[in-house]
Amino acid sequence: MTESNYRVKTIEWQGDEVVMIDQRVLPLKEEYIHHRTWQEVGDSIRTMVIRGAPAIGVATAMGMALAAQQSGADDYEGLKRDLEEAAAGLFETRPTAYNLGWALDEQRKIYGEPGDPDDIRARMRERSQQILEEDIAMCEAIGEHAAPLFPRGARILTHCNAGALATGGYGTALGVIRSVFKRDPAIHVYADETRPFLQGARLTAWELQQEGIPCSLITDNMSGYFFRKGEIDAVVVGSDRIAANGDVANKIGTYTVSVLAKAHDVPFYVAAPTSTVDLDIPDGGGIPIEERDPAEVTHFGGSQCAPDAIGVCNPAFDVTPHENVTAIITEVGVHREPYSESLAEAKKGKD
Ligand code: MRU
Repeated sequence: MTESNYRVKTIEWQGDEVVMIDQRVLPLKEEYIHHRTWQEVGDSIRTMVIRGAPAIGVATAMGMALAAQQSGADDYEGLKRDLEEAAAGLFETRPTAYNLGWALDEQRKIYGEPGDPDDIRARMRERSQQILEEDIAMCEAIGEHAAPLFPRGARILTHCNAGALATGGYGTALGVIRSVFKRDPAIHVYADETRPFLQGARLTAWELQQEGIPCSLITDNMSGYFFRKGEIDAVVVGSDRIAANGDVANKIGTYTVSVLAKAHDVPFYVAAPTSTVDLDIPDGGGIPIEERDPAEVTHFGGSQCAPDAIGVCNPAFDVTPHENVTAIITEVGVHREPYSESLAEAKKGKD
């Protein structure tokens, strides 16, 4: 199984603590936060110390393993009660990322069956580490499947951060870009800054720069200019949840990019592990969209940039209809329309 060999570890076990790089202060500071309780992990997910659907899934699995460690119960029923409380608390931290509920289900497969509490604790800890390692392997496989889709010297637009920081350590959309770059160093990436949280400016630009992948950072409202000039050959983004029909929830602004891509006949690719595919939701209309703090919109770098008491909307995600998606790439392969069939096939044997 693959172990992350990137210089920066997004999340890992150190002894009995879960350590995460604090993504709120990157790229200016590289700081790590140690977590001893599931409540601390929940706070870090809610406040975006860690973000990105697959990374949230890993954090959730580790948070549940911490909850098992924390529980003083010496009988199965007591441990299960404590774990159900932790699962409910973690579940409500961020509603859109499907990997969160998926990771809870993975841990529930272990503690849902009566057994020796210490054995359950050990297996949950082991499973959380496996989920991290499987995520890296899945991202690498996504990269391998996707790389041949890109022309030589491709100019690729991405939105938000779907990189090592958003996953166990390789990235979905940025993993694809890494894999393309390995074959063809002549590519160029346009990274949307991704207002209001600036995942593109702070995290994607930083990851690409560290690996020497040529990149231009642009503000979100510039991409139309580059599409029109014919300077974008492909789009690749990650996803927080993919409905059974292939509708894709991702960072707010992704839908806009998909419309531009369609208007300019540019392929729009979505890279995500099958743990992001939610077959229980028939279409994007059922995907819960997180609404975040208005201060993310009214303030910039800690300074107020809007009038006092102005009304604000701050949906963190939008849904791109499957008609705008050229292909979805998972660790299983490249999936195309009709997604209701190709995604169901990809998920077979996964749950
Ligand atoms: O609000 P965030 O930063 O958690 O949103 C992240 C995204 O939208 C990513 O594109 C998505 O989770 C895929 S990450 C591999």
